[in-house]
Amino acid sequence: MKNVTIAIDGPVGAGKSTIARECAKKLGFIYVDTGALYRALGVYFGENHVKNPDLSKITKIDLRFVDGLQHVFINDTDYTDKIRTPEASMLASKISANGSVREFLLDFQRDFAKANSVVMDGRDIGTVVLPNADVKIFLTADPHERAKRRFDELVSKGVLVGTDAEFEKVLSDLNERDHADSTRQHAPLKQADDAIVVDTTDNSFEQSVTKMLETITRVSPRKAGSARL
Ligand code: DC
Repeated sequence: MKNVTIAIDGPVGAGKSTIARECAKKLGFIYVDTGALYRALGVYFGENHVKNPDLSKITKIDLRFVDGLQHVFINDTDYTDKIRTPEASMLASKISANGSVREFLLDFQRDFAKANSVVMDGRDIGTVVLPNADVKIFLTADPHERAKRRFDELVSKGVLVGTDAEFEKVLSDLNERDHADSTRQHAPLKQADDAIVVDTTDNSFEQSVTKMLETITRVSPRKAGSARL
């Protein structure tokens, strides 16, 4: 049977990764977090080379799944533990504006979706990577709410202590990154014409997952019907 592809795009902190991961689990599909690829490349090249990365240094990039969690390997080194800091977010946003980097990752993402049924999230999945995806969702929420979620996550992980100043920084970083991601020349963050908008501003995590699964079932009943809903 043909593999099923579900494309999820949206701005920073809309809950793409947590909601998409849960949906993938319920559907029995593989969840692919493409932001992690850009994050790993950003960290690999670092502040000094992120603007002009020498891609010939990379002989291999791959995703491996450890206990169901996605790990990103570059040249057989696992970068997963280093990619969730605010600095890594900015490096990822910077490197993702580079056309050669996007080209470099394009086939990798497409090949992965050809070989597996996936819920793939990012910024250009419905527009560029998988323009023929079975279902396209643009997941969003009010910027203040998104910043609050990101802030709470960073505090719970011990990355931040939880001050008001830190919150303001998270909010301004989020706005800066959304602006950069949506205005860049190559594959900017954009809602695909045939994507369905799911706004989770007033929804809990569980409500968001339900809303998303209902949307997937409505758009593609046959595909979702074969899954474990
Ligand atoms: O989803 P994320 O926050 O982990 O993504 C990190 C950065 O990577 C984001 O600021 C933009 C970039 N990105 C992208 O350009 N295209 C994607 N498909 C996924 C992420």
